[in-house]
Amino acid sequence: MKLLEPLVLGARVLPNRAIMAPLVRARSDADRAPTELVDVYYAQRASAGLIITEGCHISPQSTTRANASAHHTDRQNTAWRRVVDAIHAAGGTVFQQLYHVGRKALLSTLPPGERPVAPSAIEAIGGIMTAEGLETFPVPRALETHEIGPIVDDFRAAARRAGEAGFDGVEILAANGFLVDQFLRDETNQRTDAYGGSLENRARFLLEVVDAAIAELGAGRVGVRISPHFRSDRIGDSDPVRTFSYVASELDRRGIAYLHMLEGTTHDEDPFLPLYLRLAKKPSATATGPGPVPGDPFLAPLLRPLFKGPLILNGGYTRETAEQVLAQGLADAVAFGRLYIANPDLPERFRRNAPLNQADPSTYYSGGPRGYIDYPTLAEQQAAAIA
Ligand SMILES: Cc1cc2nc3c(=O)[nH]c(=O)nc-3n(C[C@H](O)[C@H](O)[C@H](O)COP(=O)(O)O)c2cc1C
Repeated sequence: MKLLEPLVLGARVLPNRAIMAPLVRARSDADRAPTELVDVYYAQRASAGLIITEGCHISPQSTTRANASAHHTDRQNTAWRRVVDAIHAAGGTVFQQLYHVGRKALLSTLPPGERPVAPSAIEAIGGIMTAEGLETFPVPRALETHEIGPIVDDFRAAARRAGEAGFDGVEILAANGFLVDQFLRDETNQRTDAYGGSLENRARFLLEVVDAAIAELGAGRVGVRISPHFRSDRIGDSDPVRTFSYVASELDRRGIAYLHMLEGTTHDEDPFLPLYLRLAKKPSATATGPGPVPGDPFLAPLLRPLFKGPLILNGGYTRETAEQVLAQGLADAVAFGRLYIANPDLPERFRRNAPLNQADPSTYYSGGPRGYIDYPTLAEQQAAAIA
């Protein structure tokens, strides 16, 4: 298998295996509906084998930085339909990433009187930079058992809306320490009801969410993202191999479109790292390639036989290391995050072995067109060099 070869994913044949990873870019409006800049941004990147959108909130209970996107109102739905049309018109395929932040919601953005919710009242370490400065994550409120079903229904409704907006599928975000991940792992889930305790109970919420999305869209239009080693904000698991082996097997039984796994990363120096990527034990000196923290098991070879559908790997990959994991049969596709931020024509650059633009972290969440839709394609750079 090679990066620029087609991949069958659900009912679709993707033109290549260089997937665009989900990336919050905070270019929605004050109501969290994508602006027209978002149409341009994704259409520019339509040559990705698959675009996975930024994480989109499924309810007003899940909110974070200003201008990050959501999909739970009619107005947002109309705007997403416009974005999807632009991507399809440019020849792309797109899944919408859906999430609930759980304990990582910010008090200042929640409806008055509400607290962030979580499986257990254990707060995340860290916070989010707002216009007023760093807002730390508060101690969340543990969900009552009867409150969990309605959140599954919020995911169901968001999947339905995604279908109505024309998305080719949805990706359930069960990674990066957000609500589904908080249920999965035993450091953050200390419940004693049917959603905590045993591994089967901890995975119940994820599987109910996945089943709800499947009921709306069909299994071939549902993907799941996991990050077994993520522990940046005090989340962890006493036995990630067992936890994620069970998750992979259960998802395999359901025949979902793909499993997407973020394992480790390289870039300890990035300013957004506390939010997504800091792997507490990874010493910078050894942060030289993709894969997990030294000492953690590389899960791709372990999960590979358990999940027989397409496996997408992510986390610090380059063209070379991506080709390696594909050649070794450890993955069917590789997702690139920061490389797609800076290179709208990434597959073409890979094809030509061309130099890559570097992403500017200061514009990740800055709003506006700069650092969002103004990264040049190779053709534009070549035309500018001639002129
Ligand atoms: C600006 C930014 C926003 C991100 N937003 C999301 C997100 O919405 N959902 C998610 O699952 N991961 C998110 N991530 C993580 C990326 O999808 C990806 O896992 C990470 O960048 C590592 O891949 P890379 O080394 O190819 O960049 C984000 C990363 C960055 C840099």
